[in-house]
Amino acid sequence: MREDIINLKNNAIGQIMDTDSDKELEELRIEYLGRNGKINEFLIDLKKLKPDERKDVGILINESKKTIESTLNDKIENLTQFKVDTKEWFDLTAPGVKSEIGNLHAQTKVLTEILNQFSYLGYQIADGPEVESDYYNFEVLNFPKDHPARDAQQTMFFDVTGTKFKPGELIPRTHTSAMQGRVMQKMKPPFRVVVPGRCFRYEQIDASHGVDFWQVEGFAVDKNITFTDLLGTIEYVLKGVFGSDAQIRFATTFFPFVEPGVDTYLKCTVCKGKGCSFCKKSGWSEIMPAGMIHPNVLSTCKIDPKVWRGFAFAIGLSRVVTLKYKIDDLRTLTNPDLRILKQY
Ligand code: PHE
Repeated sequence: MREDIINLKNNAIGQIMDTDSDKELEELRIEYLGRNGKINEFLIDLKKLKPDERKDVGILINESKKTIESTLNDKIENLTQFKVDTKEWFDLTAPGVKSEIGNLHAQTKVLTEILNQFSYLGYQIADGPEVESDYYNFEVLNFPKDHPARDAQQTMFFDVTGTKFKPGELIPRTHTSAMQGRVMQKMKPPFRVVVPGRCFRYEQIDASHGVDFWQVEGFAVDKNITFTDLLGTIEYVLKGVFGSDAQIRFATTFFPFVEPGVDTYLKCTVCKGKGCSFCKKSGWSEIMPAGMIHPNVLSTCKIDPKVWRGFAFAIGLSRVVTLKYKIDDLRTLTNPDLRILKQY
């Protein structure tokens, strides 16, 4: 009898597993567990056994009943969970849904283009800290303490209470020029270096200003470097990025670490110089301050200004990106909405 019970249980499980039909499952329930079902037949037969056998076989019958019951219930639950509506029409030949692949951020693309232009010219890339000392951000660069030129940098300050630093000793760097001193004190001229990086200033945030922005600093030190080398380099790089018909003009300006200093203007790529809200109706956009490295900076960095000369510039990367893609609000670049970022 024991063997018959075990065989019955195994058969029942096999049949339950083999079917996906609700109707057949119900039939199996009646066949095995129903009032006149096979399990009950065994229970009736139980009475024919000797009393000492009855207990063990009784337990076996009950356990088998429970197993069949739970297998049936699991199967029914499974079927309702993954029920496929067979009436629904399914087109096997329809193309699948394409999974999205990401794309590089507009700024990353432009930065790569710019760095490529410089690598053609033999520049090395350097990376520097965003938290900078007053010494490298200002002093090395010929900004004496309390000099009014510091105001133009709209510096933000850290709260250093409880640290070993004095107020103003460490700052979020206001420009990538802070890397000039670090590199010049380490490297022996001649050298050509570019430094892409994020800078921070105390600004009122609007469509064309943010508290953080990117620059690509560049500087070259060699014998016989001239002002026209600087202008030629700027023209080469900007035409490489904006196309050979890009128009550029220069105007003099002041920074304590260059002499002479120039601002580079690019003819507005949005209105082609006619004047629009983008270029504030001037037809030109200021994108790249530059100049010949001041002899004071060279000598502070132990480079003899009588032997060596250099030029430096800083590309306003965020500005180049917005001009190139005709984006009228800087904040678009930091918007995390993929529908916006995907366009570029
Ligand atoms: N560091 C300057 C600024 O961001 C720009 C600059 C760089 C000017 C290099 C001249 C030469 O304000």
